[in-house]
Amino acid sequence: MRGLRQLARRLLSNVPENTVYGGPKPQSPSQRFTLANLKQKHARGEPITMVTAYDYPSAVHVDQAGIDICLVGDSAAMVVHGHDTTLPVTLELMLSHCQAVARGATRPLLVGDLPFGSYESSSNQAVDSAVRVLKEGGMDAIKLEGGAPSRISAAGAIVEAGIAVMGHVGLTPQAISVLGGFRPQGRNISSAVKVVETALALQEAGCFSVVLECVPAPVAAAATSALQIPTIGIGAGPFCSGQVLVYHDLLGMLQHPHHAKVTPKFCKQYARVGDVINKALSEYKQEVESKTFPGPSHTPYKITAKEVNGFLKELQRLGLNDAATAAAEAAENVESDSKKSSGSS
Ligand code: KIV
Repeated sequence: MRGLRQLARRLLSNVPENTVYGGPKPQSPSQRFTLANLKQKHARGEPITMVTAYDYPSAVHVDQAGIDICLVGDSAAMVVHGHDTTLPVTLELMLSHCQAVARGATRPLLVGDLPFGSYESSSNQAVDSAVRVLKEGGMDAIKLEGGAPSRISAAGAIVEAGIAVMGHVGLTPQAISVLGGFRPQGRNISSAVKVVETALALQEAGCFSVVLECVPAPVAAAATSALQIPTIGIGAGPFCSGQVLVYHDLLGMLQHPHHAKVTPKFCKQYARVGDVINKALSEYKQEVESKTFPGPSHTPYKITAKEVNGFLKELQRLGLNDAATAAAEAAENVESDSKKSSGSS
């Protein structure tokens, strides 16, 4: 029944129910997790969960796990497209990822990353890109990186346009050109203060939450205490309001070597899905090569002896005698294989 309701909702709309129909409703596991739910959870001091997703299957998994926020991160550039950095991913590509995720995840709050090059030029450019992420991508909110005055203004302009914004400070991978690589931030007094001040400025601009990436735990604790909005940590220790990990990292899926280099220090692998995939693919290759797949149980489509005879005659009439012989042999093999397998079962 719940499955049917979810399917109906997926076919009809991706828009959060609470925002369309208004009025507070008790949250049930099948309802969209909204900003109001996020605020309540934060006020109760309950840890917030966030995971990235990039396509329909990952979105369905994140949804079914009951994760609060699903981020379509620009980490897609690295973990999905194999780039060395997050810089090459375009807004068009991100929109395509967002659309697939929006189809798969009906419950979590959906946040789409603004990719590098889609919001730095002006607040107008930032608003235009954010509008597309909601309108075309089916997201509920956007995330942008950095805390330069122009980014703070852009965040404010997007919020003014009616779009919820998540900030992102500390290590901001889109800025590796000026950071000099994937480097932790906040490790000296001025850098640590900057992390807290930037997070405060983003809150002032109207952000509903801030990601703290790769900063020491005391710096994350200070930011979390100073802010009224939730902080979501990644490599920032336990004193954040919530945690985020990249889907492929936490599942232990084989990934781009550059990304692998920067993640292990803080990323716990909850599974070794990459090993499972490798094993399955090798078994498949071995079974195809040894002609044990597909066997009778994976050859489901039957044709009656009468239809086979007619088919063979038709092939002969068309002059396709070799094809007729191949079809006759196959019919015989299938028949004897299925007799053998029904005898053995
Ligand atoms: O793009 C991404 O996946 C992110 C997370 C690491 C927070 O920004």
